[in-house]
Amino acid sequence: MSDRSELIAVGKPFSFDAERDAEFERLITRYPIRESMIMPALWLVQEQDGWICAEAISYIAERIGTYPAKVFELATFYTMYHLKPVGRHHICVCRTLSCYLRDKQEIVDYLAEEIGIRPGQVSEDGKFSLEEVECLGHCGTAPVVQLDGEFHEAMDAKKLKALLATLD
Ligand code: FES
Repeated sequence: MSDRSELIAVGKPFSFDAERDAEFERLITRYPIRESMIMPALWLVQEQDGWICAEAISYIAERIGTYPAKVFELATFYTMYHLKPVGRHHICVCRTLSCYLRDKQEIVDYLAEEIGIRPGQVSEDGKFSLEEVECLGHCGTAPVVQLDGEFHEAMDAKKLKALLATLD
């Protein structure tokens, strides 16, 4: 299993744009404990930049008034947060037991051979990125792929190829 904490990348100085800044100020009034705002704030970062860099972790900690380590531990625990740049279309393939037994590897191999990406990589044209993740909660219809946040069950390489062909 990869250690996600090794994956976080240095980016550039980060701050919210005006829209996210206003949303941050609106949302934080909902939380009596300011640290409860860490996860929504990480979403705002990802919405703005597409991924969460080390500088954004420090920025969120400062805005909330907590330690960067607390933001870091949440950002690295949940695979829904991207810790390095991703493609325009992000593909998550479940690698946990049911999907493993139902040949998730065929899908991973297809992506390596046809698109040229392995887990943790972005295609040369920036169109696709691939990540292997833990159980996506649809084990009864394994193998499961999450494409741009949407679940696709009982997948195989042929179905994925058809799905990817519909994307710009
Ligand atoms: S094991 Fe793949 S969705 Fe649960």
